[in-house]
Amino acid sequence: MNKFNIALDGPAGAGKSTVARLVANELGFVYIDTGAMYRAVTWKVLELGILADQTAKVIETAKAMDIVLQPGPTGQQVLVDGEDVTDRIRSAAINANVSLIAQIAEVRELLVSKQKAMAASKGVVMDGRDIGTQVLPDAEVKIFLTASARERAERRYKEMDKPAITVEQLELEIARRDKLDSEREVSPLVQAQDAVLLDSSNIPLQDVVGKVLELCRAKV
Ligand code: C5P
Repeated sequence: MNKFNIALDGPAGAGKSTVARLVANELGFVYIDTGAMYRAVTWKVLELGILADQTAKVIETAKAMDIVLQPGPTGQQVLVDGEDVTDRIRSAAINANVSLIAQIAEVRELLVSKQKAMAASKGVVMDGRDIGTQVLPDAEVKIFLTASARERAERRYKEMDKPAITVEQLELEIARRDKLDSEREVSPLVQAQDAVLLDSSNIPLQDVVGKVLELCRAKV
C-alpha cells in the first residue's frame, strides 16, 4: 500500500490511541499522538509554576521548549528539552489543566505547524481533536471515533494501575474536558464533514481497527 495520512479525531477516552497504534503497526506507518504535545506544554508550564491563565508566559514557554515524540519501549516516548516525561504528562494535574492550555491560539499555531511538518512525508496515523479539520484537512482517511462518556470513563478506569479516583469522578472529568474542547473558540473538537463516524460504545476496539483498515483499503 502506498503511503497516505490517516486523521483520527474524537473525545477523550474513545480509544483513539489504541486504535491509532494498532492501525499504524498494521500498515507500517508512524503513530503520532498530538494530545501528548499539548500535555508536554502543560507539564512544562506547571513545572515553572506558571498558571494556565497567564497566557503570555504560557506562550513564551511553549515557544522556548523543545518537544520530541519518538518510538519508545512502550509506545510513543515524549521528550521535553531532552527529558523523558512520557509518564509524567498523564498525571491528574495535567488532565485538569491541559484543555485550558489547548485553548490558547498561539500554542495551537505552534503545535499545529510542528504536526503538519511531521506528516509532510505521509505514512502517519495522527490522533487528536482537530486533525481532520485543521492539521491534515487533506488526509486521505478521516475518522471521528466516539463512545458514550460512561463507556469512555470505564475504559480509562480499567487502564489505570491503582486508580485514586472513582469511575464516576473520571466520567465527570472526561465530560468537563469534552465541554472545554468542544466549546473553545479556536479549532474546537468537531467532526470534519468528510470524516467517517465510528461509535466504539458497544464494539471491541479490535473491530474498530478492522473497520479503519477496511476504510483505508477502500479509499486508497
Ligand atoms: O488526547 P488527549 O486526551 O491526551 O489530549 C489531551 C488534551 O489536549 C485534550 O483534552 C485537548 O484539550 C488537547 N488536544 C487538542 N488538540 C489535539 C489534541 C489534544 O486540543 N489535536
